[in-house]
Amino acid sequence: MSIHDLVADDQPENFSFSAENEDKIVKIIAKYPEGRQASAVMPLLDLAQRQHDNWIPMKAIELIAERLGMAKIRVLEVASFYTMYNLKPVGKYFLQLCGTTPCMLRGSDDVTRCIKDKLGISSGEMTSDGKFSLLEVECLGACVNAPIIQVNDDFYEDLDYDSTETLIDALSKDAPPPIGSVKMRSGSQAETGPTSLEKMAAKSQKKKSEKTAGTAAEQGRS
Ligand code: FES
Repeated sequence: MSIHDLVADDQPENFSFSAENEDKIVKIIAKYPEGRQASAVMPLLDLAQRQHDNWIPMKAIELIAERLGMAKIRVLEVASFYTMYNLKPVGKYFLQLCGTTPCMLRGSDDVTRCIKDKLGISSGEMTSDGKFSLLEVECLGACVNAPIIQVNDDFYEDLDYDSTETLIDALSKDAPPPIGSVKMRSGSQAETGPTSLEKMAAKSQKKKSEKTAGTAAEQGRS
């Protein structure tokens, strides 16, 4: 794979961190001992991505390398290794679909099929209106509620074809549904209800239902 496959063709001429992020950078770098500042590379890449519409331009890679005393290629190696960093523009709703074994066994192929049917995109593609992009990724660390889609920073869990369709319809209207299990499971509790620590589980479920009702009422008013 060449560098041109890896990064966006259309690159901004400049990049600088906002004043707010500069303050954060000072605090982040101070966490590491003298001579180990390169360890701050991941949080700095994350700041750059959040500041720059969810993708990292080459000018930001260069700036981070300079700031941390690293070779540019080393920063690029980190940014291109982890799927959490985007080196090309992504959609407003960046869907990261887990296709690793537990999610696959629980139906991630149906989720992929629904996204293809609804949006006409496959992994690595973006809709023509820039609203959605899709990337198939490895385990997102929430296998107990498989299959999972991460939408920007949020997880939607226990998906199937129909619930993925509902999720996409809601996102299309810029009305993201409550995050977590679409089956309203509390955490990764059994579908049949709590089997231990029942009082604590009931309290947590009540809280979640109240929050969901509040969000629904808020969306109804807007
Ligand atoms: S396998 Fe999909 S979250 Fe772990």
